[in-house]
Amino acid sequence: MTIIYESEHRLARHLSTLLGEAVVVPTAEALVEQINADRDEQLVVFGPNVPLHDALVFAEQCRLRRPHLGVLLLRSDLDVNVLADALKAGVREVVDPSDHAAVLAAAGRSHDLSRQLLGAANSRATGRAAVPSAPVSAAPDDLVEGQVITVFAAKGGCGKSTIATNLAITLAQGDKASGRRRVCLIDLDLAFGDVAIMMQLAPHRTIADAIPVADRLDETGLRTLFTRYESGGAAVDVLLAPVQPAIAEEVTRDLITEIIHMARGMYDFVVIDTASAFTEQMLAALDATHHYVLVGTPELPSLKNLRVTLDMFELLDYRREARTIVLNRADSKVGLSMTEVEKVIRVPIAGFIPSSRDVPISANRGQPLCAAQPQHPVSSAIRDLAVKRFLGTATPAKRGIFARKKG
Ligand SMILES: Nc1ncnc2c1ncn2[C@@H]1O[C@H](COP(=O)(O)OP(=O)(O)OP(=O)(O)O)[C@@H](O)[C@H]1O
Ligand SMILES: [Mg+2]
Repeated sequence: MTIIYESEHRLARHLSTLLGEAVVVPTAEALVEQINADRDEQLVVFGPNVPLHDALVFAEQCRLRRPHLGVLLLRSDLDVNVLADALKAGVREVVDPSDHAAVLAAAGRSHDLSRQLLGAANSRATGRAAVPSAPVSAAPDDLVEGQVITVFAAKGGCGKSTIATNLAITLAQGDKASGRRRVCLIDLDLAFGDVAIMMQLAPHRTIADAIPVADRLDETGLRTLFTRYESGGAAVDVLLAPVQPAIAEEVTRDLITEIIHMARGMYDFVVIDTASAFTEQMLAALDATHHYVLVGTPELPSLKNLRVTLDMFELLDYRREARTIVLNRADSKVGLSMTEVEKVIRVPIAGFIPSSRDVPISANRGQPLCAAQPQHPVSSAIRDLAVKRFLGTATPAKRGIFARKKG
């Protein structure tokens, strides 16, 4: 079905006749209600009288949370800036409403793409039990939940846990515009998780405690499994990895999907630290993720693995715009130059984190740098990344889809 969002009554009716099988909504609120009521909606057409900002914010949020929902924008006078902004936000096409053939063709193309995306998601669901677009419980407000950020690298030891812990703290500190954020950190390096040590947390409760209650875990139960970290003006709820490596195998992909899905409804950000492997467990996490932070260091083996990861992400259909490439120990003297690095990985790097002996020192002390030394160059680099990629764009959970405009 197609949804037409247009406030001008006659034009809305006209578009509806043109597109067939369409629902017309006159306001942003009615639009949100309509798409929350039906997860399988595939196309929203923004009429020429809808404010551009509404369309862009909507497209941006859908791209992350409902990639199969296409957005078309109808604009009579189209300038290059509008087109660039629209495409950047994830609008599939911008079309002149008076060109009926073009509107119909664009709607057709969008439906085709949505069907393909849904097909890919469903075939993955059959192979791997659950995907984010088929949530555990089809929560009607899935468009207003928290953002899942997974820190991943196919090669071990390149700084995933350092980045995940510090990123979680930075996000919890928030920014001036909207204050502190509710953040949880999940250590999915199930066999050898370091988060407890890095944040000096006693692992009295871990994800292993969720295994016996997996089939009846609810938000209240999940809350009891978190260990609270508080320091440097940040509070982060941490779900620690099992103490016994052997238990790792008992954490099923379904349990991981369920936990992430539940956490999304409880926090503004869910940050996930991972193990360096494409296991079923990691794929469950990657499938349920909105943003991928992919880490590499400026050495050939690490970069080769980063390139392989990117190729793997293509195969798995993980969206390109959801990937953030971070180069850790970027200034390392023994490393390659930036030009050489970008030549190997063939994608631009979004964040550069310097090398510093304070990083291992802080890990040994169990005091992440972003909390203990917020002005440290490593903390600043992680903060810049958080502001640029997440704090500046993401909407706090449990606010409306047009929250940025109102808030
Ligand atoms: N920017 C940095 N400067 C100096 N040392 C760093 C930096 N980032 C990470 N390290 C050090 O490198 C080692 C590996 O870092 P970390 O544990 O964060 O990586 P990881 O990818 O999580 O590793 P694993 O795959 O083993 O889980 C640690 O000793 C850490 O202190
Ligand atoms: Mg680690």
